[in-house]
Amino acid sequence: MQENPVRKQRILSGIQPTGTPTLGNYIGAMRNWKLLEDEYDCLYMIADLHTITVRQDPAKFRQNAMQMLGLLLASGLNPDKSVLFFQSHVPQHAQLGWLLDCFTYMGEMNRMTQFKDKSAKHADNINCGLFTYPVLMAGDILLYQANLVPVGRDQTQHLEICRDIAMRVNGIYGHVFTIPEGYYSKVGARVMSLQDPTRKMSKSEAEDSFISVLDTPDVIRRKYRRAVTDSDACIRFDPENKPGVSNLLSIICALTGGDMDQLVASFEGKGYGELKAAVTDVTVETLAPIQAEFARVMKDKAYMESVYRAGAQRAGALAERTLQKFMKKIGYVQK
Ligand code: TYM
Repeated sequence: MQENPVRKQRILSGIQPTGTPTLGNYIGAMRNWKLLEDEYDCLYMIADLHTITVRQDPAKFRQNAMQMLGLLLASGLNPDKSVLFFQSHVPQHAQLGWLLDCFTYMGEMNRMTQFKDKSAKHADNINCGLFTYPVLMAGDILLYQANLVPVGRDQTQHLEICRDIAMRVNGIYGHVFTIPEGYYSKVGARVMSLQDPTRKMSKSEAEDSFISVLDTPDVIRRKYRRAVTDSDACIRFDPENKPGVSNLLSIICALTGGDMDQLVASFEGKGYGELKAAVTDVTVETLAPIQAEFARVMKDKAYMESVYRAGAQRAGALAERTLQKFMKKIGYVQK
């Protein structure tokens, strides 16, 4: 991150290392991160503190975390421009999380849909971390005084609560935190499941319902071939009545940057087989260079280490400034 006389707006976003990211993660978040790198001061974090709200196998967890760093680098992020780091390497996240817990109400957390979904899914492990997850996430954003947070639509509720907490704190102590805004893609902010296009694409669902960014061309072809569409054989963008077809169209649009009307017109007189072939081609074309770069970068452990160490240092310095400012306002004796 360069020091500029006029400070660029700041961006913070994060992704959990819960496995190989999906095409939804890529389109909704990772792809935008690279696009924003030149215009903003960007910090991108592997949200590994969040991940243990669901029990993890230690060896697999470590591997997933390094894989995520490899994929962020492979997707084109430049660590000389953006700060790339592991959340767990910057202890201020946990510290601010605690402080903000004391400024957040149980009722607010009870309303969070992700908590309801995840506690239904992991009924044997409804832990306090799962409950206060959005507070930790609010702290992630507020620590860096981020102006913008590029995320998919599934994070909207978390962003709203982050803003509410920040405004509450500012209301009590005067200005402490910048109030952040969400930044969403025009198309692809909610990529849907290939098997049930009324639900978001998610790696915690059945294998055939998502494309992973490391899927081979054959697997990608097979998954799209099996993707649920509808029976009226007409290619038109209508997410409400034709969610499956509209999802495939959105994926093409998001990956090519093309215009939806033109795309739909190009399928005039064509069938779903052709639509599926087209979405397969753009997906394979997008992912192939990322996969090749991923294979290369993962062999260079020393480079990866240097990236995350430098990232933690740069992020830590910024985080400490905000944490100290807030602690002073609360009334803690200064170190
Ligand atoms: P996570 O790891 O579930 O997802 C990472 C990013 O991918 C987006 N995303 C999608 N976008 C479009 N379509 C989909 N089907 C889809 N699935 C996922 C998510 O919206 C997200 O942007 N809580 C966050 C991680 C986090 C964070 C933060 C994000 C922790 N602290 C601070 C921003 C700022 C999460 O679990 O994302």
